[in-house]
Amino acid sequence: MTGPESEEPQLRRAVCPGSFDPITNGHLDIIARASRLYDVVHVVVMINQSKQGLFTVDERIELIREVTAEYGNIQVEAYHGLLVDFCKQRDIPAIVKGLRAVSDFDYELQMAQMNNGLSGVETLFIPTSPTYSFLSSSLVKEVAQWGGDISHLVPGVVLEALKGRLGKS
Ligand code: PNS
Repeated sequence: MTGPESEEPQLRRAVCPGSFDPITNGHLDIIARASRLYDVVHVVVMINQSKQGLFTVDERIELIREVTAEYGNIQVEAYHGLLVDFCKQRDIPAIVKGLRAVSDFDYELQMAQMNNGLSGVETLFIPTSPTYSFLSSSLVKEVAQWGGDISHLVPGVVLEALKGRLGKS
């Protein structure tokens, strides 16, 4: 058979990149919404060797796998290099990012334009749920460090991992 009928349907793929040190409910909100828009969502932990994380890259991957397992179309891995090269290697045409506030926009726009100029990959922004508009991994770690309640801001397994790492019970 020739023509479009003979071709395998192309899976629609997108990537949600980040440091995920650790994954928060804000990240999860964006990943869950992306998973409803695309056939496969690649969640990639971008390795930044100049930044010492609280969790190792393998620990971050394991936590992400646990909390995204129920969506059924999430692939989690780490990458060291340019995000656009990760996309090129896996034939991923779209990056999905959450926008929390106007303050995110300047830098996100620069990255989106740079990535598009480098490779043609598109960036799509999803407005973060207002419930999480103030949320970041750094703030979660800081509040947890001093014993503040973050149980509504991270999944249960992440809460336990933070308590274990920071020596809180
Ligand atoms: O969770 P973060 O730390 O805000 O995520 C930032 C991240 C990792 C998505 C961004 O720094 C990134 O894409 N880094 C990969 C290296 C790269 O491609 N740099 C050029 C960006 S234009």
